[in-house]
Amino acid sequence: MVFPETRLRRLRYNKVLRDMVTETKLSVDDFVMPLFVCTGDNVKNPISSMPGNYQLSVDLLVEECKTVYASGVKAVLLFGIPKEKDEDGSVACKHDGIVQQAIRAIKKEIKDMYVIADICNCEYTTHGHCGTIIDGDVDNDITIETLAKQAVSLAEAGADMVAPSDMMDGRVALMREKLDENNFTKIPIMSYSAKYASGFYGPFREAAESAPKFGNRATYQMNPANSDEAIREVELDVVEGADIVMVKPALSYLDVIYRVKTEFKMPVAAYNVSGEFSMVKAAAEKDWIDGDRVMMEILTSIKRAGADIIITYHAVDAANILNGKK
Ligand code: PBG
Repeated sequence: MVFPETRLRRLRYNKVLRDMVTETKLSVDDFVMPLFVCTGDNVKNPISSMPGNYQLSVDLLVEECKTVYASGVKAVLLFGIPKEKDEDGSVACKHDGIVQQAIRAIKKEIKDMYVIADICNCEYTTHGHCGTIIDGDVDNDITIETLAKQAVSLAEAGADMVAPSDMMDGRVALMREKLDENNFTKIPIMSYSAKYASGFYGPFREAAESAPKFGNRATYQMNPANSDEAIREVELDVVEGADIVMVKPALSYLDVIYRVKTEFKMPVAAYNVSGEFSMVKAAAEKDWIDGDRVMMEILTSIKRAGADIIITYHAVDAANILNGKK
């Protein structure tokens, strides 16, 4: 049937009806809040390019987690800023490493908080690359050994899930093997499967003090022009044992999220990264856009594309809107 019998506006005149036929509904259950933990006591360093986000010492991180949990967001993703770095990032595997301390403290105070540990070396290496440098580039097979150690160490500290973000080949398989050998068979791996070499990570690298000191990450992160390759990355991670696959960034890669969800039927996470967050904040500050409205529109688009889990610095703000607290 066509016009005039069919009128699509008929479903739009009444808000109750509009709500009933809404296809995509965001929920606080979808959100993960990324947080940055640093050494010291009572430290709260603002991250200038990410308004409202801070490097927090463990004591204040725990307080922040209470706020996050009270908003309804029940999962956090932790990034550490250690006091000292080394050549191969092995400081990340220390029993009393910064993220290990943070996990224990959060679990002690807020036992139901779901704590996800990002697994990567870039915050822990002196050169800022995601692994050990041999002949001027990150060596794959040495790096996956340190990453697997880091994963076991963070699981020992109490992490509920590990999330490798390094983009080395074979890291999921080795991580699964080492976790299982250490009796962590119940700990899922959320793999950053299709992670692109993106300009949108700029603010994060300020936050995590993890910018590479030379070169870039193009020999390990993906070319933004490719999506068939994303499918191959996801396929391998699934075979290697990933429980959840991730696409990152989210907004410029909605087509990739859609393809991954459609082709694999796996739980899919999308990382709404720092640069995507900061652009909204900057434009809203200038009154060029309605920040809250654009935030909800972006998050809805990520879910509509097929993401089950959305990792976002907007998590608490969006939760407060969804809960009518804002
Ligand atoms: C570590 C890592 C990065 C992000 C998450 N894990 C940065 C990078 O690859 O340089 C970026 C997250 C963001 O921009 O919010 N490898």
